[in-house]
Amino acid sequence: MFSQSRFTGLQRKFNTKKCGQSETSVLQRWRKQTNMSAFTKSFVSLARRRVFSRSIRQHSSVTTELMENMDKKSAWDRFYSETSSRNPNFKNFEWFFGFDAVQDFIMPLLQTASRPNSPLHVLDMGCGTSALGPCIYRDSVLPVRVTCADISPVAVRLMREHVQAEAIQPHDVSSHIEFLELDCTQLDTYYGSNSLDLIVDKGTTDALLRSKEGTEKAGLVLKQCLRLLRTSGSLLQFSDEDPDARLVWLETAARDQGLVAADVGVQEVGVLRGVCYYCYQVTLHQDVNK
Ligand SMILES: C[S@@+](CC[C@H](N)C(=O)[O-])C[C@H]1O[C@@H](n2cnc3c(N)ncnc32)[C@H](O)[C@@H]1O
Repeated sequence: MFSQSRFTGLQRKFNTKKCGQSETSVLQRWRKQTNMSAFTKSFVSLARRRVFSRSIRQHSSVTTELMENMDKKSAWDRFYSETSSRNPNFKNFEWFFGFDAVQDFIMPLLQTASRPNSPLHVLDMGCGTSALGPCIYRDSVLPVRVTCADISPVAVRLMREHVQAEAIQPHDVSSHIEFLELDCTQLDTYYGSNSLDLIVDKGTTDALLRSKEGTEKAGLVLKQCLRLLRTSGSLLQFSDEDPDARLVWLETAARDQGLVAADVGVQEVGVLRGVCYYCYQVTLHQDVNK
C-alpha cells in the first residue's frame, strides 16, 4: 500500500462498505437484476479468460475477434449486430453488473453535484447497449442531461430505437437523454473543459486496457475525462482491475495533469465468479489547478 504522502495534493480514499457480501448473494442479486442472455453470461466468462462454455464455442469467431480487438469499432459492431440478430426482442447487454448493482455509487453523486437552474451533464462513456444511461435518466430526481455514447453505431442505433420504443419517462420532466456515436479517445473534440458533471465508464477503459494497442488509448481517454470534468465532478470507472494497479494509474494521471485537489478512491461492487469488481472514483475539488 502507498501512503498518502506519496501523492501530494491527492487524497486516496478506501471505502469498503460493500465488503463482506457473500459471492452467493451477489450472484443471486446479479442474476435477478440483469437481463443477461445465456450468451452474454458465457461471454462474461470468456472475458475473464475462463473456461469456454459450449454456447460460447458456437460464437467463437465473433468473441475471438472481440477478445483480441476490444478497442476496435468493427469488432464491437459485429458483436452488437450478432447479439441483436439472436434476440429479435431487444435485451440490454450488461458488462458484469447492471444498474441495480451500481446505482448506489452513481445516484448520490448527482445530489452532491447539483447546480441550480441547469441540468447535470452525465456521460455514459462506451455505453454499449447497457441500461445504465436510461436508468439514470429515469431515476434522477434532479434534472439531468444524459449522453449515452459509444464508438459502435450499431449499439447507438439499438439504444436509440429501444428508448424511443419504451418511451421511458424521466422523474424530472426537464431531464433529457441522447445517444451519440463517439470515439472516446477524441472526447475533447465533442466537449469543452469543465463541461461534464459525471462520467460513468463501465467496462470501457477495461476493454481498451485489454487490447494490444489499448493502453495508450486508455491513458489518453483518462486525461481527457479529467480535463472535461467540472469542479466537484466525478469520473467513475467500474472495473475488475486490482486497486494496486488502477489507483496508481489514476493518481499518476491526476498528478501529471496538475490536479492538486482530487480525491481518488475505490469501493468494492461485489464478487462475481470469484472475481472482485470495483468502483473507482476520481472527484475534482474547488481549488483544482488545471
Ligand atoms: C466492455 S463494453 C461495456 C459496455 C457497457 N458500458 C456495459 O456496461 O455493458 C465496452 C464498450 O466500449 C465501447 N468502446 C470501445 N472503444 C471505444 C471508444 N474508443 N470510444 C467509445 N466507445 C468505445 C465498445 O463499443 C463497448 O460498447
